Amino acid sequence: MNELQGKTAVITGAGSGIGAGIAQATAAAGMRVVVADIDTERAQSVADELSAGGAEAIAVQVDVSDLASVTALREQAYEAFNEVHLLCNNAGVWVGAMMADADIKDWQYQINVNLYGVIHGVKTFLPDMLARGEGHIVNTASLGGLISGPPEGLYCTTKFAIVGLSESLLMEVADKGVGVSVLCPGLVNTDLITQSEKVRPAAVDPGVRHDQPAPDVAAGLSPAVVGERVVDSVKDNNFYIITHDDYREVIEMRHAGILAAVDDHARRYGSTSGRTF
Ligand SMILES: NC(=O)c1ccc[n+]([C@@H]2O[C@H](COP(=O)([O-])OP(=O)(O)OC[C@H]3O[C@@H](n4cnc5c(N)ncnc54)[C@H](O)[C@@H]3O)[C@@H](O)[C@H]2O)c1
Repeated sequence: MNELQGKTAVITGAGSGIGAGIAQATAAAGMRVVVADIDTERAQSVADELSAGGAEAIAVQVDVSDLASVTALREQAYEAFNEVHLLCNNAGVWVGAMMADADIKDWQYQINVNLYGVIHGVKTFLPDMLARGEGHIVNTASLGGLISGPPEGLYCTTKFAIVGLSESLLMEVADKGVGVSVLCPGLVNTDLITQSEKVRPAAVDPGVRHDQPAPDVAAGLSPAVVGERVVDSVKDNNFYIITHDDYREVIEMRHAGILAAVDDHARRYGSTSGRTF
């Protein structure tokens, strides 16, 4: 979607951090912006800032883990701006427990927001884009969707799933006028760790924390820079949006390990290539 001027973006988790950075960058590109977040005050403050800068922006409260709430977000976006061209499924939380310690409610919180949040967005907004033959969906994964390690097991489970979902979605819609990108940042300087605690619903709170030391997000990239990369990538229709190169060797090692196992299989048991099962 190389022309963004006058089009509408819906960004979840836009009350803070990367989502707020994407909101600023899309507004700067001339888009009308729906700032969606579970934290109403923060969403309103970002929308007010965009409006003060001359953009058309509204704040909408949404809980992305709840399909009905995402359906209501779509209705409010259409009511305000008639169409949605860009959907950024960006809302996410961090649960940093080791898998051996994590309560099932830790898993549920992590998966309900990070993974179901993206699923609900795709389910709700994709049909209109396909019907119109135009649109773009950006799903926020992480470098933790390409490489993993403790204590990020719960988080990486959701982020690997988002990468897989996005790769499949790309193949499903690429020839139907709808673009797909998956955003995989390394550390970004946001409120991810504190905000994840603040907005955690009681229903998925076991009351006990087994948190390991959290990643030092304060040492990370500015969210504004990430927002600009997202806008560039939507215009260029890039699939992978990579904002850091410091883990290149680790990504290479992971892929080399997979390929080594494929080659080892062929050497020990013979090639299955061309065989019908
Ligand atoms: N900060 C990093 O280093 C980093 C790195 C890679 C990926 N990410 C991902 O970027 C995305 C944005 O995170 P961030 O770092 O900007 O953190 P952040 O906490 O600053 O922003 C996330 C926003 O999502 C909102 N949110 C949380 N649960 C929600 C829900 N159920 N419904 C709607 N909104 C909800 C929060 O209120 C918050 O405003 C997340 O998906 C995160 O996993 C962050």
